[in-house]
Amino acid sequence: MSEASNPSRTAPTPASSGAPAVSVPRTLAGQKALVTGANSGIGRAVAIALGQAGADVVVNYVVGDDAAQSVVEEVRRGGVRAFAHQADVSSEEQVEAMFARACTELGTLDILVNNAGLQRDAPFATMTLAQWNTVIGINLTGQFLCARAAIREFLRRGVVPSVSCAAGKIICMSSVHQEIPWAGHPNYASSKGGIKMMMESLAQEVAPHHIRVNSIAPGAIRTPINTAAWNTPQAYTRLMTLVPYGRIGEPEDIARAAVWLASDQSDYVVGTTLFVDGGMTLYPGFATGG
Ligand code: BGC
Repeated sequence: MSEASNPSRTAPTPASSGAPAVSVPRTLAGQKALVTGANSGIGRAVAIALGQAGADVVVNYVVGDDAAQSVVEEVRRGGVRAFAHQADVSSEEQVEAMFARACTELGTLDILVNNAGLQRDAPFATMTLAQWNTVIGINLTGQFLCARAAIREFLRRGVVPSVSCAAGKIICMSSVHQEIPWAGHPNYASSKGGIKMMMESLAQEVAPHHIRVNSIAPGAIRTPINTAAWNTPQAYTRLMTLVPYGRIGEPEDIARAAVWLASDQSDYVVGTTLFVDGGMTLYPGFATGG
C-alpha cells in the first residue's frame, strides 16, 4: 500500500522527553506489537521506536514495574496505545496468558519482537546446571514459546492488506555470538546459535503464509547487560579493539533496524540475520595480521 492511501502513515510524532520534534515516518500505523524484555536496554528502545512509527505496543517485562510503566508512558507519546504485561517468557502458561490478553485488548497482533534475554556467565568447568538452564530457558525456549503464540495468531488472521503486506512479522533478537564463539559464556552463545537455526527453520516453514521471520544480531550495545565492557575508559578502549567502526552501539541503532524489519519497507526480507555490530563480525584482528 502506498503512503498516500493512508494519511495516518505520515502523521508527525510528538517530541519525547525534551528531544527536538522530529517527524518519524508512520510506517507501522495501525499495527499491534509485542516486545519482550521491553523495560530496559534494547527492548525499551525498540518499544519506543515502534510506538513512534505508529504501532500499539505491549511492553513485556518480568521484574521492575516502575521501569515498565515509564516505557509505556514514553511509547504513548507516539499517540498510540500501550500497556505493560508481566510475564516470564520461559513459562508456557504465562506466555499463553500474555498473548491472550494482547489479542483481547488490541484485537490482534502483527509484530513480535522476541527480545528478552540474559547472561549467566561462568567458565565451562564451573558452570552450574541452573546457569545453563536459566539462559537456555529464557533466551531460546522463551523465543520459541512467544514465536509459537504469535504464529498461531498470524495464521488465524492472515494478511490484512490495509495494515501490512505480510500476515505477521517476527524479529528475533540474536547476537554476534550466534557466529562468534565466546569463552566463559557457553550457555549464552549456545542460546544465540540456537536462535539462528530456530529463526531460519521457522522462516522457511511460514514464508508461504506470508509471515516474515528475521533476526537482528547486535554487537556491543550500551545496555545494562554488558556495563563492565564499557563503563570505564580502560574497558571502553579494550572494547574498541573489537569494533572497527570505533564506537559502541546505542539501543536506538537496534531500534531503527527493528522498525525497518517490522515494516513493509523490508517486505522481501525473509529468514535473514541483520548484523548491527559496527563491524564486530569482520574479524578485526585480521585488519593488520594474518
Ligand atoms: C552480549 C554483550 C556483549 C556483546 C558483544 C552481546 O550479545 O549480550 O554482553 O558485549 O554481545 O560481545
